Amino acid sequence: MKVEWNDELLTGLGMIDDQHKKLVARIASFTEAVNQQDFKAIEETVNYLIGYSIQHFGAEELIMIRNGYDEFKSHREEHSWFINKVYDLQKSLLQKELSQEQLEEMRDVLVNWTLQHIKIRDKRISEKISS
Ligand SMILES: [Fe+2]
Repeated sequence: MKVEWNDELLTGLGMIDDQHKKLVARIASFTEAVNQQDFKAIEETVNYLIGYSIQHFGAEELIMIRNGYDEFKSHREEHSWFINKVYDLQKSLLQKELSQEQLEEMRDVLVNWTLQHIKIRDKRISEKISS
């Protein structure tokens, strides 16, 4: 599975799109590290991913709150779900208890979540707050 940016992911909110490009790049680096079974790179990319996701979700949540966005709470729950997944991943990495198969499963979950979430949930923010 190749992870890369494509314009189907554009939401129309400039700042968010720029952040999404970076987020997709971080997910792509993690995917690459898992594919190469490079444990050090996996640890590094997960670390980057955690920091960047927290920062990015915060920015998106601020936009939603400021605009009284109707689906804020359920949207935020999706963000929390993702952060919890990344937390579980980090915890298992620290305890060195993940098999390659489990890492690949986690890779697919994070990739699919990110692409679907951007295409459906994040695009809706821009549609709603600009109308
Ligand atoms: Fe979002």
